[in-house]
Amino acid sequence: FVLNTIHCKCIVNIKRLKRESDIMRYSNLAGAEILKDYQTFAQMIKFRQTEAKKSVIIKISEISHIEHLKKFCEYYAKIVNVFPYNTIDNNRFVLMECNSNKDVEALREIAVCKADPEYAHCVTPFFLYKPRLKLYTNQNTVYKDNYGYHSNFGTPNLNKINQSLKKIQSVSNQMIFLYDTLRITELNTRLRFYTATQISYYLSQLFINLSVVPFGSSVNGFGQIGCDLDLLCKTNISSNDTAGWKKFLFMTQVVPLTDRIEQKHFLDLIGTIIKTCMPGITDVKKILEARVPIIKFRNLSTNMQCDLSSTDMTALHMSELLYLYGQLDWRVKPLVFTIRKWARSMNLTKENPGQWITNFSLTLLILFYLQTKHILPSLTSMKIFSNKSNTIDNFDWFLKWKNSVSNNDESLSKLLCEFFEYYCFFDFKTHALCLRDGITKLKRDASPLYIYNPFNPSLNVSKNVTISELLRLVGHFQRALQIMLNSTEQDTLVKLINFDSNSTINNEFNKKNKSVSISEKFIPNVTDTNNLQKIEKNIIK
Ligand code: CTP
Ligand code: MG
Repeated sequence: FVLNTIHCKCIVNIKRLKRESDIMRYSNLAGAEILKDYQTFAQMIKFRQTEAKKSVIIKISEISHIEHLKKFCEYYAKIVNVFPYNTIDNNRFVLMECNSNKDVEALREIAVCKADPEYAHCVTPFFLYKPRLKLYTNQNTVYKDNYGYHSNFGTPNLNKINQSLKKIQSVSNQMIFLYDTLRITELNTRLRFYTATQISYYLSQLFINLSVVPFGSSVNGFGQIGCDLDLLCKTNISSNDTAGWKKFLFMTQVVPLTDRIEQKHFLDLIGTIIKTCMPGITDVKKILEARVPIIKFRNLSTNMQCDLSSTDMTALHMSELLYLYGQLDWRVKPLVFTIRKWARSMNLTKENPGQWITNFSLTLLILFYLQTKHILPSLTSMKIFSNKSNTIDNFDWFLKWKNSVSNNDESLSKLLCEFFEYYCFFDFKTHALCLRDGITKLKRDASPLYIYNPFNPSLNVSKNVTISELLRLVGHFQRALQIMLNSTEQDTLVKLINFDSNSTINNEFNKKNKSVSISEKFIPNVTDTNNLQKIEKNIIK
């Protein structure tokens, strides 16, 4: 079966296409997205950055102004897409994509830019729109929403999710629904790239060699609505940088900053520039003493909570690796989204980092499990990361893997159940996960949970997890497994993501089911706990 699209020309396995059509059934945009999904990470980033550079954000006072605003802008520029939205503080904006950079320039020419506080952040490339004529004065006029008005910044309401889940028969389809409901929307992706491009734009006015790129869950395919925007500020020089004498060259070296003190100084300065010079930015906090120094801030017009760091490129490579894993098999994303949602409902993951497992480590647990099922390849078997220079080769390799017939055809529901089972019996006491080789290995130290960093085997990604958090995690794996084994198809997911110690579902569940006793030998014992806590304290010191 040959599929021809604007994005690519590739041979697709009919069986796989059929499964992917399951996703399409539950998703408005999925058809387009699946085709786009065949882009490499670099192609996707480039595509989104170009799109962001061709976009402007316009503040409007009334939603009913959109139609008029579009007509007004079309007089000066060619408009391709219009996305109205409101932020949580109830400000109304429109993200407008133009046909080219020239169109953006034309709109910037006509932008309102005053020193009035009301217009405080109305400088390019963001501006405010107020029609001179009051066009829609009639209060009874019902605005016809042709564009779909978005306020998709909050996490979807759990009650609504539950009601919808109850209407879907199979657990596998419920998981696809959950993925479709929770993942970042098209508008949200655009706003993330717009935010990064906007900061890059301002910094580039001062320095010739600074740029800002998004990484983490905003770009790796596993981002949920409302997740933070991780930004990486990097130093680089391209051959086009000619305006050198007018601007500063940040640092003399172009290599990423590896020294922590240098990183702190660098971020300290960037943080001050963001706070004092950039419009539309608020709540700037410099967290420079953390293991990874960051600047936290909120962008008012895009409503993004940002974490800007200057870590080396590993974090970006990690995002690329996760992105690729998410593309290799259609089941990866629905499985990851379901388990992440479950973990959040159980309070196993939290909004702030701490002694508990992070979404990132949890995702690695899932990806490793899928490696053991031969659904995903190990890192070493992917030539792609040993030779990062040639993207065309990467793309060929990717298509070859994607079209190779996998022996594993298990349903999402079965994979979910077996995931819980796998980690119920995992020997956390002595063994570590190694995604690089796709096998378990001995731990290198006494950390309760040990996941080798795929790009730096001397580091443990989940070093922060304490023994009590690991025990809690395993306890919840056991409970989840019980729920899956004891519930009807229709009830399973609702029970899983609503499990809370006071709920009726939980009490009924406890009455009916005896606790699964998993052999103690797999989990570090209490004596170890004391030792481990001592070791952890020493490490922190
Ligand atoms: N990262 C890493 N090593 C770690 C932690 C994080 O390389 N020990 C990188 C990963 O690329 C990760 C990114 O930093 O995706 C951002 O980390 P974090 O915000 O903790 O995770 P996200 O994947 O963005 O998930 P979330 O939605 O919870 O923010
Ligand atoms: Mg993140």
